[in-house]
Formats: sequence, structure tokens, C-alpha cells
Amino acid sequence: MNKKWWKESVVYQIYPRSFNDSNGDGIGDLKGITLKLDYLKELGIDVVWLSPVYKSPNDDNGYDISDYQDIMDEFGTMKDWEELLDGLHSRGMKLMMDLVVNHSSDEHNWFVESRKSKDNEYRDYYIWRPGKDGEEPNNWTSFFSGSAWQYDEQTEEYFLHLFSKKQPDLNWENPVLRKEIYNMMTWWLEKGVDGFRMDVINLISKADGLPSAPGGKRYDWGGEFFMNGPRVHEYLQEMNREVLSKYDMITVGECPGASPEDAARYANDEGTELNMIFTFEHMDLDSGPGGKWNVKPWKLADLKQVMTKWQKELEGRGWNSLYLNNHDQPRMVSRFGNDTEYRVESAKMLGTFLHMMQGTPYIYQGEELGMTNVRFDSLEDYNDIEIHNMYREKVIEGNEDHDKIMNAIYIKGRDNARTPMQWDDSKNAGFTTGTPWLKVNPNYREINAENALKDPDSIFSYYQKLIKLRKEHEIIVYGTYDLILEDHPSIYAYTRTLEDEKLVVICNFTGEEATFRLPENITYNSAEVLIENYRFEENDSLSSLDLKPYETRVYLLK
Ligand code: NOJ
Repeated sequence: MNKKWWKESVVYQIYPRSFNDSNGDGIGDLKGITLKLDYLKELGIDVVWLSPVYKSPNDDNGYDISDYQDIMDEFGTMKDWEELLDGLHSRGMKLMMDLVVNHSSDEHNWFVESRKSKDNEYRDYYIWRPGKDGEEPNNWTSFFSGSAWQYDEQTEEYFLHLFSKKQPDLNWENPVLRKEIYNMMTWWLEKGVDGFRMDVINLISKADGLPSAPGGKRYDWGGEFFMNGPRVHEYLQEMNREVLSKYDMITVGECPGASPEDAARYANDEGTELNMIFTFEHMDLDSGPGGKWNVKPWKLADLKQVMTKWQKELEGRGWNSLYLNNHDQPRMVSRFGNDTEYRVESAKMLGTFLHMMQGTPYIYQGEELGMTNVRFDSLEDYNDIEIHNMYREKVIEGNEDHDKIMNAIYIKGRDNARTPMQWDDSKNAGFTTGTPWLKVNPNYREINAENALKDPDSIFSYYQKLIKLRKEHEIIVYGTYDLILEDHPSIYAYTRTLEDEKLVVICNFTGEEATFRLPENITYNSAEVLIENYRFEENDSLSSLDLKPYETRVYLLK
């Protein structure tokens, strides 16, 4: 058992634009976060992952960086950032910064130079190619719709951008660029940051020759040629040698399209690459063959299969990260639970389901309040570039039905996660005294932190308990996982085992009652309930339990 502090930690993600606005400009900022550090301490988290706060023209809300060593004006100054870091450290919490180095902003000085001429010293910091027969160099599609290539008149070549055309991909083949990045990372680590969450880090190596996706379509998904590419492990091992191995830090790589086999290398237990990765397999369960916007209902059997696969295949080899929310995903309670009648019960159940698995749990701001998806009537109320590009392609250019696409936005749009944090029931949920950059979810009068902090039965209080249990019971961190009741249509149940202890985690994923029966091969001398989301009935027997809607319980058996 390879014990590490980052395996024992709980991470809390802050999307700074939406967390807390201290100066009334409608945009969350660093000082606003510092004002809320006691709230985070009270929740009990160990590490804050801060989405990007660097200089950025905000084409993709900070994921397009124009200066990696400076702070975005809307968010404050370097001094504000240092105060935030000190405030976290003095309370015993750590800071993980977002590292976005698959691409930069087109306004980064490297790119400004790079596009000037073919022999500019920064030319090879990016991926430039001549067109083919008057068309793009290959048929890859951007994650944000349309071609992944943009023609640039100045030098009559195309540059690659897997995201928006203001996010040109960096050329990791270039050792000089890699060195610049390692130096920049070291600069932040020397300033005292405790780790990095690495944005789409498994896209940094593109296949030799940048081949078109087969099939002959002008625009096609070329993912197999840029996800988990040929040199990605070489680059990460180099980064590890040059930077990561020199610090006692936490790293997590965002890795779309990675399998558990890939993860066992990225997040290997010997520590030669990263600590852990974010997988997307469980986030894709409600996507049809047409991708994210082709919404289909997810199935409990698939969730069991995917989660179990990742738990078992990384066991003893690598480490999982555990999440159901982030700034790119709809709210978990609307997606996997019930955001009306059983909002509180299902939010607690989902938290239990996740925190009791093996891996490091991530909480996304507002998850601890049970914040829900939002439905804005007008497309104009949405801010996200992904939503607007997709709408233009599908409805304006593609003649798809407006209502159908709006419905997909309600279910899957990233702005569901980005509505301002709901602090109290005052105007704009206490997020800002000005006009918020994105509208507040109208349910803030009921769902807000002030209410949650007063209520011992709130989701917040329940999350406090989940986090505390992790500190008290080693089995929650290090126990091995096994699925039980595999075929049960409404209950997801699993065990964790460590030496002579066993946890039994029981989750009813439906709004109906359900009966749980303990498999006969699980025997025990004593059973203690560690946490449950309904009041415990003394005469309940673990061998056969009648569960209420979205009921969850965790038993510790000895
Ligand atoms: C993944 C980030 O989480 C997302 O918000 C961003 O748009 C893309 N990477 C591009 O940086």
C-alpha cells in the first residue's frame, strides 16, 4: 500500500468567475475567494483546484492564456493571488493551479510572434501547415465545432486549434517550447503552489504526419490521432524528471479518451508521470453516437460497469480521481439524481456513492449545496463559446430544430455549472452587488450556503461528515473495491475491504423503494452505520433492508 497525502485528500474546485465577486463588477475574483476561505475550511476540504486565473482575453473563460505568469485583470493582481495562497496555507489547505499547455491564447506573445513570418524564432512553438488542394491540412474537427484549422493570411498557412480559433495548439515536438513550459511551472512551484490540474494533457502529442480521420469527410473527428498520441508518455516523463519529481505536489491530468490501460501509465503508482487523471467514460453515458449533444438517458447498469472497470483496473497500479461535476459538466443532482422532490436525498446519495470509492474525491463549487441545472429562455442568456458555436452550426447553418437544441443545452450545456455560487437569499444570491456576468439560478432563495450552514441535515453538513469519515477510516482511502448485487435494477452497492474490515456502500439510484439483500458470503461480527441520508431505524437488519427513494447507507463490518 503506497500511502500518499494526495490519496487521503479531498479537492474542491473553484471556477473563479462564478465563485464570489468582491468589487461589484459582476465577475468573481481572487479577493472574493479569500473572503470565503473559512467556508472552505468549515467544509473540511484539503486542496483547492483553481480554474485558470492567468491573463486571458476570455474567449474560453481563462482556458485561453495570453500570459502564464500574470493574473487576469478582472480577477485582481498578483498580490491578491499571494494573499489567497497565504490564506489557504495558514488554514492548512493547499492550492492546485490549472495548467493549460496544450494550447495558449492567440494573444500570447509567442503566437503574436509565431504568426509574423515562417522564420520567426517562435514559429515552431505552434503547429503550422500549408493547405492541401486549397483546403485544410487535414479533416480534424475542433471540440468547439468546425474545422480544427485556421488559415492565416500573413504567412498563407494554417495553424491547428483543437479548441477555439483563439486557442492555437502548442507544438510539443519543439524542445525549446517544452523547456519554456517547465520553467514556467517551476516558477509557480517556487511561488508556493502545491500542484497542477493539467488541462487536456493527453492531447499534447499529435500523430506523425497529422493524418486525416479515415472516411473522406471534409470535417471528421480525428481524436485517434491526437488523444494519447505517440510521444505523450515521453513528454510527461520528461516533465516529471524536470519539474514534478522535485516537489511534494499533487497532479491530475485531464484525459479525454483515455482507457484504464492508458491511465495505468499516466497515473502509475511508481510516480513517473502524474498522480491521477480525469476519465470521461462515466460522463459519456448519456451521449449518443452523435456525441455530447446527442442526449440519451444513462443506464445504471452502464454506470456500474464503467465505475467498476476503473476501480478494478487501476487497483494496485494507479490512482483514480472521483468526480461527478466540474465546470464543463451539468450539475450531478440534475443528471444522476432528482433535482425536484428528492434533491437533498439524491445529492447526499451521490456524494456517498463517490466519496466511498477508491480515489481522490473532487467537489465542484455548489455541489455541497445541491445546486442544480438552469434553464434560460433565451440563447442570449448563455455565455459559453461551446454552446454558441454548436448552436450556430446545428440550428443556423444546419437547420436543426431550435427547441430540440435548446433542450440539449438545458441537459448538457456547460453554463449549468457556471451560474454564480449561491451564498444567500439576497439579490444575485450574494454573489455580486453588480450585474452578474451569467444569470443566477432562480432557485437561490431556497438553495444557498447561508441556509445550508444553519441546517444540521443539509447537504453541506452531510459532505462535512463524508470528508471527516475519510480522515477517520483508512479503509475509505485504501480499501479494495468490489461490486455486489451487479444485476439489481435500482441499487448500486459495493464493498471496500482492508484487512479484517469491510465497508458496505448501498445506494438506491431511484425515486422508488427498493430492497437490499446482503450477499450470503459476506459475514461479520459487528455492523455499524457510518453514514446514512434518512433517519436510521434501530430494528433494521443489514441482511434485508427496505430502502427509501435515493436512500444510501454505509456500514462498517468487523
Ligand atoms: C478542458 C477545460 O476543462 C475546458 O473548460 C476548456 O474549454 C478546454 N479544456 C480547453 O482548454
